[in-house]
Amino acid sequence: MDVIHTVAELRARLADERQVALVPTMGNLHDGHIELIQIAKPRAACLVASIFVNRLQFGPAEDFDRYPRTLATDCERLSQAGCNVVFAPDEQEVYPEPQEYTVDPSDIQDVLEGAFRPGHFRGVATVVLKLFNMVQPQIAIFGKKDYQQYLVLREMVKQLALPIEIIPAETVRAPDGLALSSRNGYLSAQERIESIALFNQIDGIRQALLGGRRDYGALESEATGCLNARGWQIDYVAIRRQSDLREPGPDSRALVVLAAARLGKTRLIDNVEVDMS
Ligand code: PAJ
Repeated sequence: MDVIHTVAELRARLADERQVALVPTMGNLHDGHIELIQIAKPRAACLVASIFVNRLQFGPAEDFDRYPRTLATDCERLSQAGCNVVFAPDEQEVYPEPQEYTVDPSDIQDVLEGAFRPGHFRGVATVVLKLFNMVQPQIAIFGKKDYQQYLVLREMVKQLALPIEIIPAETVRAPDGLALSSRNGYLSAQERIESIALFNQIDGIRQALLGGRRDYGALESEATGCLNARGWQIDYVAIRRQSDLREPGPDSRALVVLAAARLGKTRLIDNVEVDMS
């Protein structure tokens, strides 16, 4: 496996590759990231993982500075998983000058995560377009763990006619249900036990929907109340349409329940899809 830090070296390494799959990450890799590599494997001869903690997508009060940077262990895991190239540029390589041209996603960037993290999806879309231009993959894999991110990027590729196939990956969870996340490492032992309540609540809503309930507002506030009572600070618990994250009507069939909440200092997000036939 080659570990490459500059665009020039990357271009030289990939010059003769015909089928390249890209898995963009911010590092501190866990089994969820590795699953994306496994999904890419049968689809491309050359697997590239990028590792770059993108300042542009962090708000001023967010955890950019303390975000874990673990390049050596990340490379070990990627090598074992069969990755061919790790692209780990430094900030100067990605942003040699202030990034004044940016990608401004559609209105979908302003709801849910976007409402609580203004500018976040502009930062994500901009760096992902830049990584696409640097790596020039035919395929890119994104996790549904970050559901809104996946939709924003899927629409970016469609609207800007990028010749890249976006493949979604299901959320990988710990045995108790907690969605794997680099930020889980911030949780204390006691918070780790409590953290499962977030998934339990959204999964409870999923079961209620499958059981026939359609009182979306009541389901959302029951879950919010329950989590509040357990000491969580809720940003949102929302039942939305899978296609565009708009509010569903009574006949909507493809739904997703999304939540974001803080437990102590750690902000967690999760979601579950609900398909009603
Ligand atoms: P990061 O949080 O490192 O996630 C990298 C990829 O791994 C994303 O596609 C994310 O959805 C996926 N992922 C994270 N946890 C997962 C899990 N438990 N199961 C399945 N997939 C999971 O998302 C980012 O980085 C950045 O925003 C990035 C796209 C790299 C742009 O900077």
